[in-house]
Amino acid sequence: MKTGIFGGTFDPIHNGHLFSAEAIKKILDFDRIIFIPTGEPPHKVARRVTSACDRFEMVCAAIQGIEGFEVSDIEIKRKSYTYTYDTLMELKENAEPGEEFSMIIGADTLADIFNWHRSQDVFKLCSFVAMKRPGSDEVQFRENMRRAAEAGAKVYTAEIPQYDVSSTIIRQAIAKGEDVSVYIPYKVKEYIEKKNLYISRDMTYSEICEDLQRLLSVKRFTHSMGVAEESVRLAKIYGADVEKCKLAGILHDCAKELTAKQYVWMGFEGNCDKDYEGENVLLHALAGAVLAKERYGVCDEEILEAIRCHITGKPEMGLVAQIVFLADYTEKGREGTFYESVREKADKGLLYEAMLEECDNTLIYNLKKEKLLICVQTVKTRNWLVSISKQERK
Ligand SMILES: [Fe+2]
Ligand SMILES: [Fe+2]
Repeated sequence: MKTGIFGGTFDPIHNGHLFSAEAIKKILDFDRIIFIPTGEPPHKVARRVTSACDRFEMVCAAIQGIEGFEVSDIEIKRKSYTYTYDTLMELKENAEPGEEFSMIIGADTLADIFNWHRSQDVFKLCSFVAMKRPGSDEVQFRENMRRAAEAGAKVYTAEIPQYDVSSTIIRQAIAKGEDVSVYIPYKVKEYIEKKNLYISRDMTYSEICEDLQRLLSVKRFTHSMGVAEESVRLAKIYGADVEKCKLAGILHDCAKELTAKQYVWMGFEGNCDKDYEGENVLLHALAGAVLAKERYGVCDEEILEAIRCHITGKPEMGLVAQIVFLADYTEKGREGTFYESVREKADKGLLYEAMLEECDNTLIYNLKKEKLLICVQTVKTRNWLVSISKQERK
């Protein structure tokens, strides 16, 4: 028995996928094709991917009644990052005697298979079908084929005409209210309409909280809730926009628990602001602002600024940023005399003095650490606050 494995995000599955799968099934004489929707793909963290359940249901709807097409929930059931190796091992366990697996990949993915987790073992467990598009870079393709053969991977080629559609185009079209009947099976369209998928609208606060709970540990989420609550409290004292402060507060650490790889995928590799250089812990603030914009659709610059500078502050930062900077320090979960003293100043309406003390405490705390870490940005914020205090005294 010959089985083709067709993995993908399928957000949503479209006619191009079905067309390719059908063509490959015929060309390589496969008995069946198993569609395997991925779990939440870590490299797509900057975009909120449709729930695994909805993507799975759409694949079910799309392949319903097509002979030899099946769907598997192996990857969406796994909570952690899914490696192809693990998926193959699980498929092998439930395989028919003598069943051969072949993984369907795009021609460009061929260049990447050597970097996969346990690639040598993967090459033993399955062969590959590289989908080649007419007009694709022939030289590059041959080079990739040569490298794959050298590494011991068995690769078949299937030249399939490009079906000119992509999930991105479909999502954008639906968001604009355009008709996508020509791109997706009728049943998938029905499902999308029933579930209101891909309609662009702002996420509600509770939807954001729900999503953050998936992205963060309990401890980090509790802290974020604390900062949101404290931001509201401080916003009322200082006459800031309560809703903006609340949203910035809940989102300020949204990127705190991304992996190093996810930062790289988001483009944060060696190109961060020079003041942050060498201080990777600070990256989560910059990445957080990107995530807030891309994943949660936050476009308000005051909120994004607050997330971006919540750790170090920034000279001339706006009121929302000031509130969140302070709230991150004074939220009720932080206990100790340092925090108490800043909280007291904040309660008395001494905003700048409270922030100055926060900067001083942070600088002293970091200096006490073995690394003697002085954060340039915090020093700049401190200088700004000192100059304001001096002006106020005049
Ligand atoms: Fe943070
Ligand atoms: Fe925080």
